[in-house]
Parts: sequence; C-alpha cells; structure tokens
Amino acid sequence: MSNQTDAAVDAPKKESKRILTGIKPTGIPHLGNYVGAIRPAIQSIQDSDDEAFFFLADYHGIIGCYDPAVIHESTKIIAATWIACGLDPERVTFYRQSDVPEIPELAWILNCSCAKGLMNRAHAYKAAVDINTEKTDVDPDQGINMGLFGYPVLMAADILMFNATHVPVGRDQVQHIEMARDIAGTFNHRYKPLFTLPSAVVDEDIPLLTGLDGRKMSKSYSNTIPLFGDPNPQVSPEKQMHKAIMKIVTNSQLPAEPKDPDDSALFEIYKAFATPAEIADMRTQYASGIGWGDAKQALFDKINSEIAPFRARYEELMANPKELEEILQLGAEKARRHSRKQLDKTRRAIGIRPLAKLK
Ligand code: TRP
Repeated sequence: MSNQTDAAVDAPKKESKRILTGIKPTGIPHLGNYVGAIRPAIQSIQDSDDEAFFFLADYHGIIGCYDPAVIHESTKIIAATWIACGLDPERVTFYRQSDVPEIPELAWILNCSCAKGLMNRAHAYKAAVDINTEKTDVDPDQGINMGLFGYPVLMAADILMFNATHVPVGRDQVQHIEMARDIAGTFNHRYKPLFTLPSAVVDEDIPLLTGLDGRKMSKSYSNTIPLFGDPNPQVSPEKQMHKAIMKIVTNSQLPAEPKDPDDSALFEIYKAFATPAEIADMRTQYASGIGWGDAKQALFDKINSEIAPFRARYEELMANPKELEEILQLGAEKARRHSRKQLDKTRRAIGIRPLAKLK
C-alpha cells in the first residue's frame, strides 16, 4: 500500500520517509517520558537519514491548561529538554506550532472536510463525555471546549501541512492518525490530491516505566521521577533525583535475602538504562541479596551517568532562553518554507484566491 497520493505536492522524494511528531508542552518531563519518547525519537533520527519535523504543540497545550504561566514555562522546559538530550536542530526541523500560523489556518479548512460524526467518535472526547454521563444532573458536554472536540483536526493540520509519511506516536494517538488519513482522503477526493496519507508508527519495544508508588509512571498519578528536577530547586537537580529514587517502593525483604529482580520496579528502571552485561550482573546481585539501599544507589549512579551531561546543557539553556528562542525561530523559518506553499495550494484548490492580479 502506498501512503502517497500521486500528485501530492511538496512531498518527500519517492521512497524517502518524512517523519513528523508533536510534543504537547505540558508538565515537567520525567524518566518515563525520557525512556519512552525523548531518547528513542532522538536516537532513531540520528541513526537514519530520513527528513524529520519535531514540534512543540502549544496550541494543543492550551486545550486543557488555562494557566498562561504554565503554558509559557512548559514550552521553555520542553524545548530545553529536547535540545539538551541531543536533538540536533540542524538535522531536525524543530519548531513551535504557534510560530507557523499556516497550521491553524489549514486546520480551519480541514474542519470543513471533516464529518462531525468522526469527531464524536474520538476517544479523548468520548472519555470526557463518559465522565460527565456518570454524574447525575450534569450536561454530557460540561467543561468540554471546542478545542478538545476538534483536537484531531488540528493534529491533522500539523501532519498534512508537511505531507509527513510516518508519525511516531504512543498507542493512544493512533486513532488521531487514522482520522488525519480520513480527513486527507475526503479533501483529496473532493478537491485535489494535495495531501499524503500518513501512517502511525508505534514502537512496541519501548519500555513503560513503573513510578514511585508501583503504578505506571505518569504525571496524572504524581509518582514520577523528574528528568532534570524542579525548575525552582532548593536542592540541586541531582540531589532531587537521588531523593526520588530513594523513595521508590520496595518490599520489606532484608539485606542479604535473595530478591526477585522481575518483581522489582528498581530493576525494571535499571534495565531501561543499563547494557545487557550490566543487567545480567545486576540479576546476580539480586539473587545474592543486594540490599534495597544499595540497589537504589546503583540505579541512581546508572541513570545519573547518562543524564548528567544533558543536565548541564539543560541548565545552560534554561538560563539562556534567548538561545532557545533563536533555535525555535530558525526552525519556524524552515517549517514555513513548506507551510506557506502548502497552504497557498490548499487555498487555491478550494477556490480562495485573488480576484485579479493588481499592478
Ligand atoms: N496529540 C499528541 C500527544 O498528545 C501531540 C501532537 C500534536 C502530535 N500534534 C501532533 C503528535 C501531530 C503527532 C503528530 O501526544
């Protein structure tokens, strides 16, 4: 199956991939985000010569967060995190969604090629309605804004604007990529085949980390280990990470008792950072009864050896937002070389163009 329409404009060269993914700038990145999204995305780009577009989806961020200070600070933190972890802005077109005004403009146009019924079936919207429906005397749409309802259309605009072929996402986002295909199909059929149909890429091998309390590490459970620590620390970020790791729950087995590594969150996180030889060695140490305190210290040392160099760069960028802003503006300029053309073609296709040439 080809994911390219014959006449797709400004599409990547035949056979080559154009990878695109969005990062919602909400919250402080934690180890689960690092292992599950940041590290694999940066690595996969380094190991290939595919074209890549990564962006901060701040217009998606405002759907669920009405605090301007949080939106602003998160954007800075997330941009600094990705650059510090090795994203090369020369190699990847790295931009902020809101710096590419053609995207929301395209989203409006795509709204008109999107059946309302398709949006009624979106998981995120349905989940919000379900919560309301369980309560008595509450309107099913209470507290739901049109941004949430139309979330997948803005996402379709993000993707279709650049004729992305491959969109790496978490499992929860696959439906949105299907919707982008659907919307592109409707438009292409109705007007002109301008848009490439994208494919979702879900990496099955990515580890899911357990959080401090034994549940999946997630912002919504407040059980995370921050990647770089709190932005406003009384204690150094390194100490913060050490403290968080010491808080990971373990069972009450005493030092010297043999322990089951496969029943331990500590070991699971260790596996996400260690080499196969180091993992095998740690297994032996569990069997011969390493104490939980020592296992935690070993985990901290392992993570810290990978993160410490990034942390230095992160702090430098956080202290110098001008450098970050310049990186983002450069990215926006690169992105707009595509988006201006694509929007212009789209507008013409739907009949919106000047009535006559002036001068
Ligand atoms: N919705 C995605 C998430 O919550 C973020 C996102 C926005 C995105 N636009 C995108 C991802 C386009 C991939 C492509 O994770």
